[in-house]
Amino acid sequence: MSAKSALRGAALTGAAAGSDAHSDAADRCALAEADAGLAALTAAAEEYVRSLFAGDAGGHGADHSLRVLRNALEIAESVPGCDLELVSLAALLHDADDPKLFCTEDFANARSFMRKQSLPEEEIRAVCRIIDQVSFSKNRGLRPDSTEACIVQDADRLDAIGAVGIARTFAYGGSKGRDMEDSVRHFHEKLLLLKDMMNTEAARKLAEIRHEFMLAFLEELENETSQR
Ligand code: NI
Repeated sequence: MSAKSALRGAALTGAAAGSDAHSDAADRCALAEADAGLAALTAAAEEYVRSLFAGDAGGHGADHSLRVLRNALEIAESVPGCDLELVSLAALLHDADDPKLFCTEDFANARSFMRKQSLPEEEIRAVCRIIDQVSFSKNRGLRPDSTEACIVQDADRLDAIGAVGIARTFAYGGSKGRDMEDSVRHFHEKLLLLKDMMNTEAARKLAEIRHEFMLAFLEELENETSQR
């Protein structure tokens, strides 16, 4: 049983049987099963992205996907009722078909992983729709149409800013042979705009801290490199 069907089972048990001791125990049992199912599915997705990105040093590796998962779960804590299974899968798989890295079509990598996990087609479609809405270049300025996509998009954008954003920008620039000035331009063209593009309140707060850190970094870089 997938984590989600166990969760649905828990909801149904609770609704049908009221709150007697027996149904409480059944609820707890179904919820524990849902947690275990989600943990196993997340672990399998982590293993899949690690194998998929083995050897990538351009800032889009498995580590990025794992940080996006962590950011997404942190944001999700303050968004009641969101579907954690969709959020977790989309966060981990959001770059599995990135056209900069793979020549797949229609999220073939993400889909094949989820089919191997025997997830229902409806859920696979929902995850792919979230992934489709996460991309910065495709969806510039557009707000995703589901809570889960809002969360994952924010989580991905958070990983582009702050200390980790600085590290990723220079790592990616270096891998493309760009000089420091080119990478600094990327802050002004994209990274410094992201804080005002967050969908959720939780992400806005996290983004504020990371934004201030980037400003301080750019100021110090300017101090150290300007001709005096
Ligand atoms: Ni990403």
